Amino acid sequence: MPCHINFKGEKTVPVEEGQTILQASLADGIPHYHACGGKGQCTTCRVMVLEGAENLTPPTSCERAIKNVKKFPDNVRLACQTQVRGEGVQVQRLVRDDTDRYIFIDGKEEGTTIGEIGERRKLALFFIDVRNFTPFVEANLPFDVIHIMRRIFALFKNAITQYNGEIIDTAGDGLYAVFGLNSKIRQATESAVLAGFKILSDLRIFNNTYMRPYFNHTFEVGIGVHVGKVIVGNVGIGLSHNLTVMGYPVNIAARLQASTKELNNSFVISEVAYRLLKNPPYSLGCDYLNLKGVSTPYEVKLIGKPYEII
Ligand code: FES
Repeated sequence: MPCHINFKGEKTVPVEEGQTILQASLADGIPHYHACGGKGQCTTCRVMVLEGAENLTPPTSCERAIKNVKKFPDNVRLACQTQVRGEGVQVQRLVRDDTDRYIFIDGKEEGTTIGEIGERRKLALFFIDVRNFTPFVEANLPFDVIHIMRRIFALFKNAITQYNGEIIDTAGDGLYAVFGLNSKIRQATESAVLAGFKILSDLRIFNNTYMRPYFNHTFEVGIGVHVGKVIVGNVGIGLSHNLTVMGYPVNIAARLQASTKELNNSFVISEVAYRLLKNPPYSLGCDYLNLKGVSTPYEVKLIGKPYEII
């Protein structure tokens, strides 16, 4: 009796005993890429297993070797090396046309896991923005503006990487980072908050020892931290390891950062994130924000300081 395998969005095909997934799909007319002819060398036949992984044969030695080099997640299998032992298996081909082939095989790669496949993860989301940069830009030479920007971003980066955060994007005088790619959410939230406090403290020192004496100017920042389930992936062709993080919690975190102005506090964290902290910092109080598309006000905690320059 043959088993069956479902190719998501395509069709269900029978798999005879001893047949590999690749042989079964080709026999049923699926245009399954197999550049090396099924020898386990090219990875173009790879599939993502969506259901029924327990009914597949274990990885062959050649599959294990190639997966080690490419760092594929466990749910990615080589169709030419895998047989089906029971019902209920569903897979998705990852290379379905020439554009897929370019993205997955020719365009880049080695060692991309989350980036290539895309994953839903619970992360701590961290937004920071320099508050009073425009007056500085207007009053100083382009060289000084860029130089100071570099100093400030180096200070941000130092704190974020010290606490294992990953900078996702920069825009103007702000940036966006995530914590928790390699840790649990409680630890990630703790790290995001500690990174935020380190930035506030380092910026104070930078203001006193550099900005005030040399430029008669000081900077303040606004930080917003939230947690939530987001999609992590890589949509940048040609920019390897360029992680993108998407989802509604990202918008909330950005909104929290923007609210630091109206709430007159340099560090705003969502109540949800605050509750995850083992040693929550002193909060000057809580407040409520109206978020687009959310009917009830959103509770936040104010854990920074009121601004000196408004
Ligand atoms: S066809 Fe080349 S690795 Fe499977």
